[in-house]
Order: sequence, then C-alpha cells, then structure tokens
Amino acid sequence: MKNQIVRTAIFPVAGLGTRLLPATKATPKELLPVIDKPLIQFAIDEVRAAGIERVIFVTHASKTALSRYLMDDARLRERLIRQGKPGLAEVLRDTALDLHDTDVIFVTQHDPDGLGDAVLRARDYVLDGPVAVVLPDDLILDGAGCLSEMTAAYPGCGCGHLVATMQVPKAQTDKYGILSVTRQDGRIVYARSVVEKPDPEKAPSQMAAVGRYILDPAIFDALARQGPGKDGEVQLTDAITSGAPTVGIAGFRFSGRRFDCGSKRGLLAATLFRARADPAYADIIGEAAPVTNFIPVG
Ligand code: G1P
Repeated sequence: MKNQIVRTAIFPVAGLGTRLLPATKATPKELLPVIDKPLIQFAIDEVRAAGIERVIFVTHASKTALSRYLMDDARLRERLIRQGKPGLAEVLRDTALDLHDTDVIFVTQHDPDGLGDAVLRARDYVLDGPVAVVLPDDLILDGAGCLSEMTAAYPGCGCGHLVATMQVPKAQTDKYGILSVTRQDGRIVYARSVVEKPDPEKAPSQMAAVGRYILDPAIFDALARQGPGKDGEVQLTDAITSGAPTVGIAGFRFSGRRFDCGSKRGLLAATLFRARADPAYADIIGEAAPVTNFIPVG
C-alpha cells in the first residue's frame, strides 16, 4: 500500500567504499552481499515495505553495475526459464525495480562533496511532502522495518525532521552525528541540534544518528544555503540543525539491530548474524559443528 505521507526515498550511493577496498574497486559497496542478498536489496525491501512511491539514487558515474542490478534483465530471466530454473527467474523479477510500481530515478554526484550535497541533488525529482533518506550501508536487521516504524511514528512526533537514533559508546561519538537531546518520550528523543562527529569529550550525548531520516522539505533550502562543514563537506546534520527552531528535530529509537556494512567488521557481523538465524548454516557456525571441525564439501 502506498504511503500517504512519505512518498519519496533518496538513496545517496555515490560513495566509493574506500573502507572496503579492494573489494569495492570494481563492485559498488551496495552490491556486496550479506550471504546471498546485496546491501541495496535490503534497503529496497525496506522502502517498499514502507509504501514509498519513488526512489532516487544519487550515484557516481563509475557505479554502472548498480543500475544493472536494479533494472530488469529480461534476457537473463528468459534464459533461466529455458534452463528449467523458473524460481530464480522469479527472484530476478521481484528484485527488478522497473517491473513494479516504484518510480526509479538516477542522479549523478560527480564529486564526493558530502551527504548534504548528495541529498540536495535529488531536490528537483522529489514528490510533494517529507522525504526519506536511506543509507544502504547502514543495514538494519531483525526489527519491524526501520522506515515503516519511522513513517508510522512521524505524524505523531510533532517534528519535521525525524532521524533514526541509537545509543553508542562514548568513545565512538566521533563516527556519527550526535543528538543534543532535550527530552525523551517513549521512542521519540527530542533534540535541539545534531552535531557531526564530535570528539567524545565534546559530544552532547551518546545518541547517534544512523542512516534513516524523514525530512521536512525545508531541508532543501537549508542545504542550498549550507556551506561546507566538518571535513570540508556539506553535512546533512548541519542542515537538519538549522531547521530546529522552525520545523523541530527528533530522534527515533528503532527496534532493529544496525550493522555498519561500510566497514569490514560490520559486514562480517551482519553475515554471522544472518547465518546464526538460519538453520541451513548450523553445521558451519553452530555449536554442533565448531568451525575448526568443518570440512568444506566440493
Ligand atoms: C553519515 C552521517 C552521520 C551519521 C552516519 C550514520 O556519516 O554524516 O551523521 O551518523 O552517516 O551511519 P558517514 O558514516 O557517512 O561518514
């Protein structure tokens, strides 16, 4: 069912995945799999579940494999059917965005000028109303669907900007946007600002922004006015903060578990998490057959 309030999702996917080189030299990080499913597919499934109508990919010219993954390949499907593999053909049909009622738009970001710059590039293509921003390398598993939870909470939170948030260790505040919290009401954490990657001793709290946002359309004017911030990049957090007096800012404590799949550790942790949840892999990682005794077949 279509979402009546949040109709557009922006996927900033122009990043070159330097933390995962050389794996990402020729393969976009969003196509790296967690077992058999590429990161981008988890994000697509999440926005579809939330009833998003239009997805805007802000991408880089070198990442053509992304659009090949996202769009239908009828020849490949036909070949699989001829080879007696209709199930696989069906999986490909399900994943092809253009065969479903989701609009897909690709926008190019040539230079890595920051997350804020990437979001601003989508401006001319968004549908009316608040927009979602989804960072596919922030994988959220084992919950009710982070974006669905957020779109459900959004109308009642009384704020224009809603940011997924989780508590992080104090030593890690310099890896995240950190909320300057004013008060909490259930899963909603109200804030007066979001500070991009503060040193632990200067961090206003330990509540970190993770890669799911619902933003009031005022974000685009704010981004257009915004100069470079931390690390010389246009920061989405700064534009969100500038909306505090007018539209308001809140964090949303989502129910799932987040993995930073732009890092080796996060990708491995997500893979193990999925493997542990699936009995098909019990012989590889389960107690019954410790990894040391595992002899690969074939
Ligand atoms: C970005 C945002 C940061 C946020 C983080 C979540 O940083 O700038 O505020 O906390 O995503 O993953 P990045 O990790 O892309 O440097």
